[in-house]
Amino acid sequence: MSSEYQQYLDEAVKIAKIAGKIIKESFENRQFISENLNIKQNNSSDLVTATDQYVEKMVKSHLNKTFPTHSFIGEETTAANNNASCNLTDEPTWCIDPIDGTTNFVHGLPFICISIGLLIKKEPVIGVIFNPILNDLYTASKNGGAFLNGKPLPTIRPIQPLETLEKSLIITEYGANRSEESIKAKLDTLHDVISYPVHGIRSFGSAAINMCYVARGSCDAYYEIGIHAWDVCAATCILRESGGVVVGWKPYKSTTEPDKKKLKTGNEEDIDIINEKFDILNRHVLCIRQLAEGPKKQNEILAEIRKRLI
Ligand code: IPD
Repeated sequence: MSSEYQQYLDEAVKIAKIAGKIIKESFENRQFISENLNIKQNNSSDLVTATDQYVEKMVKSHLNKTFPTHSFIGEETTAANNNASCNLTDEPTWCIDPIDGTTNFVHGLPFICISIGLLIKKEPVIGVIFNPILNDLYTASKNGGAFLNGKPLPTIRPIQPLETLEKSLIITEYGANRSEESIKAKLDTLHDVISYPVHGIRSFGSAAINMCYVARGSCDAYYEIGIHAWDVCAATCILRESGGVVVGWKPYKSTTEPDKKKLKTGNEEDIDIINEKFDILNRHVLCIRQLAEGPKKQNEILAEIRKRLI
């Protein structure tokens, strides 16, 4: 365990457990959830509950008191400001999703978690993800390893180099963006992936949990078109520390039609995907369990896989 980040990790675990208790109690109080359900920015597929907002306030105030010089980015604070408060600098920045899997939370599915990440110089160095319903606590710090309830990840299967998508189990999500353009891009990608052919496609309804299932070794890859930093920040640290690879790339620019060329080839400036830094809003993400040895080989395989996924 890296002592450099230990105090941050300890605090994140402490606050995740307190938040987990609140989330679990609310999860069991169905009437409270339905009475306090809202939608964000007139998008009936993007849900927010009073519990999301309460937990984020609580976590933010705890972190502000403990680390007064650190910055904070949270899903609900950002949404309340019309996404305007998102300015990521090199300074230590906590990046929080109070409930990842809000739709599951509302419908009573147990795939929900609090996700707490810490970025330093835009790199995720701490990741804590706690699912209080299934009692799964994932923790990681940069160069300190990744763990599920104290056991080193991956826990399910030894990590073997992934050289192709054939016979793999892939996770994806459909997200809250239901514009024609976005639906088409998602379905086209899904078509390519299913016909690869892969063994199967799964959606657990929480980006953080999806990435943790790759880190556990249960699934081979997760991709999603259109995602936010708080969904993936903590899990990026966990997955990388478990031996996996996480890459993101910028969204296509067109407002009406998807830019097919970019969708197929990805963005040239993302080529050095192993060293990629974080950006904030509406990025796409691709996570894979460990690949064949050597960064050069990894880059080649990732680029190959990405060509099929984007
Ligand atoms: C969502 C979940 C979902 C993913 C969406 C996210 P939320 O986060 O992670 O799986 O498809 O893109 O926004 O709204 O439950 O915090």
